[in-house]
Amino acid sequence: MLVLGIESSCDETAAAVVQDGRRVRSSVVASQHAIHAEYGGVVPELASRAHAERITPIVRRAIDEAGVSLADLDAVAVGHRPGLIGALLVGVSAAKALSWSLGVPLVGVDHVHAHLWAGMLDSDTPPADLFPALGLVVSGGHSSIYRVETPTSLTRLGATIDDAIGEAYDKAAAILGLPHPGGPRIDAIASEPGADDRAVELPVSRLGKDSLDFSFSGLKTALLYAVRGVPDRDGVFPRELGGLDPSRVRDLAASFQRAACRAVVLKLTRAMEQWAGDPPRALIVGGGVSANSRLRRELAELADAHALGLVIPELRFCVDNAAMIAGLGGVLLDARGPDGLALRATPTTAC
Ligand code: KG4
Ligand code: ZN
Repeated sequence: MLVLGIESSCDETAAAVVQDGRRVRSSVVASQHAIHAEYGGVVPELASRAHAERITPIVRRAIDEAGVSLADLDAVAVGHRPGLIGALLVGVSAAKALSWSLGVPLVGVDHVHAHLWAGMLDSDTPPADLFPALGLVVSGGHSSIYRVETPTSLTRLGATIDDAIGEAYDKAAAILGLPHPGGPRIDAIASEPGADDRAVELPVSRLGKDSLDFSFSGLKTALLYAVRGVPDRDGVFPRELGGLDPSRVRDLAASFQRAACRAVVLKLTRAMEQWAGDPPRALIVGGGVSANSRLRRELAELADAHALGLVIPELRFCVDNAAMIAGLGGVLLDARGPDGLALRATPTTAC
């Protein structure tokens, strides 16, 4: 089964062709980082316009690079939730037009759930060996823990109550004077020789002893105070942003990264302690921050210590892409059939 996937939920316009849910025939991603860089974050209206300009050439490239023609496609899958509504509508409209004109089924895919499928792409781990699994999505918009019964049946156990981890990385990078998106920059400089991850003790939020939720806004504020000092009663900081010497930036980035990764490992450990019923057989991870080198290392150690299989995407499938949409779309089509042309773009995740 050949599925064309389309992704336009935030600032990447992407299309991909995936065979039988797992074999990636093509995956094309056009990032809008350059468009949003000067604003320090994604500007929704600019994102929608860029998607509208790019979607047709990107789909065409995905078809060409897969070495197929439109007539070979068996279905069209689209990330229809969650995301920026104007951005989602571009992908959903394109997918509907293609599905209708080609006479093939349309299937809507939840973007966050698709991140949990990304580790299955171009891998041959038999799914039967993985479930039930503990799921973790760490991205720019989401930080969530799941109980995954099957790829199409999952329950959310916890989520962030404020910033997503990737958002915290990006804001931390802005505080340190690094360019957007800051996650990869923090990762790179925190990994430089000599970076001291204990230079500053930054907080790891626990949110009560049983909570599986995350909170990253306190960590970001603590970093701000480490850079600018604690504000006085009128909210005036003793120091301006900027002017940090490179070795201090490196130490602060490493200290931030240590605290962010500790928060993730802490909540996953709790989730395993609270787990009821058949024990998890694997830890399935996805989302942009799963590209982080320290987090990958710590998750591998955690999985090892608990004798769990680890399913983590190749780097190119960690950040937003359409291969994960096409892959999970194929699985959903088998499991519950197609959606109709009434499929709606929706800003929130299903669970
Ligand atoms: O999954 P994604 O592409 O988009 C959302 O669904 O949100 O994730 C983007 C996020 C950004 O916040 C980016 O800074 C972060 O993933 N990111 C990283 C790394 N690579 C991307 N964060 C930390 N370390 C990285 N290596
Ligand atoms: Zn994403």
